[in-house]
Amino acid sequence: MDYSKDYLTYTKRMVNKKRYNHTLGVVESAIKLAEIYGGDINKARIAASLHDVTKNMDMDEQLELITKTLGPDAIDELPGGAIHSYSGYIYAMDYIGIDDIDILNAIKNHTLGRPNMSLLEKIIYVADFIEPGRTSEESKICANIAYNESLDKAVLYAINVVVSELTEAKRYIAPITFETKKYFEELVK
Ligand SMILES: [Fe+2]
Ligand SMILES: [Fe+2]
Repeated sequence: MDYSKDYLTYTKRMVNKKRYNHTLGVVESAIKLAEIYGGDINKARIAASLHDVTKNMDMDEQLELITKTLGPDAIDELPGGAIHSYSGYIYAMDYIGIDDIDILNAIKNHTLGRPNMSLLEKIIYVADFIEPGRTSEESKICANIAYNESLDKAVLYAINVVVSELTEAKRYIAPITFETKKYFEELVK
């Protein structure tokens, strides 16, 4: 794969304007975080450019993409909100030609996270939460933690916000979310 290529063109073709603007914000925040934490700028840019590439794709098409590659069980524990992360990962790999496993993991895990995320995965997870288009108080607090304090603490902050929102809305929470929360709680102790 070509690390200097502009992968935003794929996303621009496939998502609506709102989602594209969000993507531009995630690219900006991801590059900033990569600079601060010594991450690979090109990989951060590519993963951010493609993280929501299938967000507006037809749901049946997304489910087909996931199950044909990962098997029929792959969607069993997957909350609705994370389906695009998994379909995006398959799409980036099979249709765009991304073969960098760290970039692929960053796309796959940007919604749910996972214990022991790589630096790039944490950068994309947090950038998605703090990009300039997100104007909630929580996003601003998380950005402040990420830019001035610690990336791991920013991950934990974002997970806690997600868990309390899902709990309040009585929505399904994937087991991996609790595992990730526990892992980062231990890590920042
Ligand atoms: Fe997403
Ligand atoms: Fe996103």
